[in-house]
Amino acid sequence: MEKIIVLGGKGGVGKSAISAATAVFLSDLLPDKKILLISFDIAHNLTDLFNSQIGNKLTPLTGNLWAIEPDPNVYAENYTKNLINKMKTLMKEMPIVGLIPQVEKFIDTTFTADSIPLALKNAMFFQKILDAESQDSVQFEIIIADFPPTGNMIALFEIPEDQAKVVLKYSLNFYNSIKEPVRKFSKVFRSIFKPFDDSEKRRELGKEIFKMLIDLEKRGERISELIHNLGSLRLVTIAEKPSFEEIKRARDLTERYINLDGVHINLITPHSNECEFCGNIRATQLNYINDIESEFQNLRIWKSNRLQEEPIGMDGLRKLAREVYGEVSVEKILNPRS
Ligand SMILES: Nc1ncnc2c1ncn2[C@@H]1O[C@H](COP(=O)(O)OP(=O)(O)OP(=O)(O)O)[C@@H](O)[C@H]1O
Ligand SMILES: [Mg+2]
Repeated sequence: MEKIIVLGGKGGVGKSAISAATAVFLSDLLPDKKILLISFDIAHNLTDLFNSQIGNKLTPLTGNLWAIEPDPNVYAENYTKNLINKMKTLMKEMPIVGLIPQVEKFIDTTFTADSIPLALKNAMFFQKILDAESQDSVQFEIIIADFPPTGNMIALFEIPEDQAKVVLKYSLNFYNSIKEPVRKFSKVFRSIFKPFDDSEKRRELGKEIFKMLIDLEKRGERISELIHNLGSLRLVTIAEKPSFEEIKRARDLTERYINLDGVHINLITPHSNECEFCGNIRATQLNYINDIESEFQNLRIWKSNRLQEEPIGMDGLRKLAREVYGEVSVEKILNPRS
């Protein structure tokens, strides 16, 4: 892997359209590089943008471009299956807990992939893709990630670091939920239990689980390092106050996870001699563009007008890419601050 380009920003500013356009553009310019476009918004819309069914599978779009709209549940299930099975076994073997009526059913309905927070599930998928060891047959050189609006974006960056803590917290919640029945039962059964003490076996299992948590944490550290080293964040905004404010916040919140390399100012109203209304809007936008340029003056700024037609399908996305990047070299797209 050489580069992970992440697009973030407020809702509706063109993150998905610019991600898709960038992916198509780079796949045209770099036919020898394998490129993957991933959507991390639960309301996936790559299928609409490409006008072709994508979904939860690596879908080839050109000779060197693939896209996927992951179903986070699938990855959460695979990722946690082993750990959850071990935890279940441990709980069933615990004195008292194992005796609680319906504990088995309770455990089965509590430790499900469904109960894992969505951000964690998405992060698991992100990790699966980023972690070279667990990659599928295709090895990608460039990944373009269409991220959800800021709040959820932060969760995606945070979780690799805190993976083990999240899993631990998740299991502690379970412990807490059974604490009370355990206390009641323990009074009654304490005397009966003494002869059946198999604490050695439980200790072994506990050790295994601990090791798995440590592995998770190491993996999380590896992923965070990868994002630090190869990640390039580009924030997308329109020339209006709320989304400008949002990218300033996003800059501060993401600073410790990923390098911010550029800002896209999208959906600028084009110049027109005929439309006075459009002229007024454009004048206001130009003021914001000045503000954005001075706020982010050390970064690359890409400006793109609102196109007459929606950027849909390969040709539509190529048009948007030309609008966004113009004649700029591929090197400047990959490494905007070089
Ligand atoms: N430069 C442009 N010219 C014309 N239409 C555009 C342009 N950029 C984006 N659009 C259109 O604007 C709409 C919003 O864009 P998009 O879905 O990419 O935004 P988003 O930031 O991904 O939104 P969300 O937060 O909902 O995922 C879409 O219909 C898209 O096709
Ligand atoms: Mg989107």
